[in-house]
Amino acid sequence: MKDIQYNPVTLEKAYTLLNGGGVLWICTKGKEGRYDLAPIAWTCPLDYEPVTRLLFVCDPGHATFENLELQKEFIAALPTYQQKDLVLKTGNISGRTVDKFKEWDIPFSRGTGVDALVPQGVAAWLECKVIEIYRSGSVAIVCGEVLAAFAISDAWKWVLHHVEGEHFYRPGPRV
Ligand SMILES: Cc1cc2nc3c(=O)[nH]c(=O)nc-3n(C[C@H](O)[C@H](O)[C@H](O)COP(=O)(O)O)c2cc1C
Repeated sequence: MKDIQYNPVTLEKAYTLLNGGGVLWICTKGKEGRYDLAPIAWTCPLDYEPVTRLLFVCDPGHATFENLELQKEFIAALPTYQQKDLVLKTGNISGRTVDKFKEWDIPFSRGTGVDALVPQGVAAWLECKVIEIYRSGSVAIVCGEVLAAFAISDAWKWVLHHVEGEHFYRPGPRV
């Protein structure tokens, strides 16, 4: 340990050390029937027995949050590294301002049991119901329970991980 150089990390950037899972596209439907999707990087598994539950941090100002409170369901899709430009675009504007699926002509399929759209080409998706929402300061923690899930083989190899801003990474080869 003596020879390893550790640099101080600011309290604002400490979270970048904790990011583990892939970015999710939280796909929802709004009150006017407009479908939306927003990238969410702050996510975490919550439980796996008897079924998988997950949580993510969502700004209550997002259209996504309003949709979640209204519809009580969502699809968590895992974009691939190849989709990072679209991830950035969909994360830089609100679904209140534009219909993101129409704006970028995003091909999609429909959820099998949840009324939301799955962007084509994702590594996996999880159809979920909202089970709890906690408010903490200026953010909310949304807990979901998985109702159905679909993935390509070895989906973990393809998912997109976020550090901050436009800085992403993907899993390296097995060693
Ligand atoms: C890579 C990336 C990761 C993001 N992660 C989060 C997040 O963890 N929580 C959050 O509330 N917003 C996050 N955002 C911001 C929202 O995706 C963004 O504000 C989006 O435009 C909200 O859209 P909506 O109003 O249609 O819901 C992220 C954006 C990007 C580009």
